Amino acid sequence: MDAIAALTSRSSSAKLCAPAPSEAHFELIAQAMLRAPDHGLLRPWRYLRIEGDGLKALGEVFASAMRQRDPHLSDEALQRFHNMPLRAPLLVVGIACLQAHPKVPEHEQLLSAGCGLHAALLAAHALGYGGIWRTGDLAEDAYVRQALGLASNERISGFLYLGSLDGELRIKPTPEVTVHVTRWPLQS
Ligand SMILES: Cc1cc2nc3c(=O)[nH]c(=O)nc-3n(C[C@H](O)[C@H](O)[C@H](O)COP(=O)(O)O)c2cc1C
Repeated sequence: MDAIAALTSRSSSAKLCAPAPSEAHFELIAQAMLRAPDHGLLRPWRYLRIEGDGLKALGEVFASAMRQRDPHLSDEALQRFHNMPLRAPLLVVGIACLQAHPKVPEHEQLLSAGCGLHAALLAAHALGYGGIWRTGDLAEDAYVRQALGLASNERISGFLYLGSLDGELRIKPTPEVTVHVTRWPLQS
């Protein structure tokens, strides 16, 4: 798929299955991710690649985090959190590593980390895989942060679920350009 086709058709897919991106394809996805625009070349991001038993371990972490929040949570609810990471054969956890810098405020570093995840989604789409970017409460959870080894200056920017498409990709319509892109100054 050429770049413009990928950029103008990327859509999220929640229904993902094995196989995960091959090793060669993951390398391309990772390279795309690491080309995020980056003011000051701070490299204010890092990524965790989680597959196989790692996904089950992450499910255990999610369930434990929820159990700590609410010890009365039903087994059924806990199982749901347990199974969350198993919704795809590969998870990439995007982590923004925020640094104090005189010219690059934190929000720019968060944007750069977001660009990396978007690039990964685009690369996966261009290679024929599906993906979806998720966050939720657990991305900010102290227990999850600790289990994943986050330092105090780090934030989870997203859990990227990647895999093969389970069925046809539903390509959503592109929002209307004229609604979201206007000229300035206004022309009379
Ligand atoms: C920072 C961020 C966090 C998101 N978190 C979630 C999430 O936790 N759960 C979810 O279903 N979608 C989440 N989304 C939205 C989906 O990834 C997706 O973009 C949305 O469903 C629209 O679909 P599309 O990407 O095909 O346009 C998030 C998107 C962003 C940018």
